[in-house]
Amino acid sequence: MTDATGAAKAAAARQAVRTYVTPGLRLALGTGSTAELAVRAIRERYPDAAFDCVASSGATERLARELGLGVRPLRGEDRFDLLLDGADEVAPNLDLTKGGGGALLREKLLARLSARRVIVVDGSKLVPRLGTRAPIPVEVVPFARPVLERELGEAGLRPALRTGVAGAAYRTENGNEILDLRPSAPVARPAELDRALRDHVGVVETGVFVGLADRVVVGAPDGAVRELGAGGSPRSGRADPG
Ligand code: A5P
Repeated sequence: MTDATGAAKAAAARQAVRTYVTPGLRLALGTGSTAELAVRAIRERYPDAAFDCVASSGATERLARELGLGVRPLRGEDRFDLLLDGADEVAPNLDLTKGGGGALLREKLLARLSARRVIVVDGSKLVPRLGTRAPIPVEVVPFARPVLERELGEAGLRPALRTGVAGAAYRTENGNEILDLRPSAPVARPAELDRALRDHVGVVETGVFVGLADRVVVGAPDGAVRELGAGGSPRSGRADPG
C-alpha cells in the first residue's frame, strides 16, 4: 500500500467512525487494512468507551482485543447495529467484491446480521462493474476444488487457486480454499453470478456482495472524503483529525 492509499483509507476510516460510531454500539468488524484503520479510529475517538464487538477474522479480533474493544465470539441470536468493513471493489449501485483478505464468508454473515453496513474504501476501489480491477473470490471445500476448477473453467470464469506460504494452497480461517475468478469481461449481473456460483456443489460462499452496503465512505489522499448511499445522494467533506 502506498502512502497516498494509506492516507486515503485513514481519512475515510476516521470519517466513518465520526459519522456512524457512538459508544455502546454492537459492532461487527471487517477484515483488511482499511477495517484495521477503522478499528484503530474507534479507539482514538473514544479512548474509554465500551463496545460489544464481533470480528470477521483472527487478525481483527486480536487488534480489537489489544485495544480493549470488548470483542467476543458470535452468538446465535446476534444482531449488530453497525458493520464497518472494507472492500476490493465498489460498483455504482454499491454491490461489492470482497475477500481479498480471505474473510469473505465471515464478512458476509456479519453483513447480513447488521442493521447498517458502512463500507470504507479509498477511491481506487470504485469501478463501473465488479470484476474490473479485482478477481472474484470463491471459498470452496478443498475436496471439491479440482472439480470446481474444471466446472468454473468451462464456464469461462478462469479460476486460479489462491496460494500462500511457499506456494501451498491458501486456507481460510474456516479450513477452506479460495478460487479467484477472472471472468473475461466485468460482471454485468452480480446477483446472477452469485447464485450461479453457489449452485455448484462445494462452493461455500462467494465474494460477490449484493445489497449488503448501505453507505460507502470514500477517501482521497488529500484527506477529502465523500459518501455514497444506496439510493441517497453523495455527501462530501474532510475528515478532521479526531
Ligand atoms: C477481506 O477479506 C476483504 O474483504 C477486505 O475487506 C478487502 O480485501 C479490502 O482490503 P483492504 O482494506 O486491505 O484494501
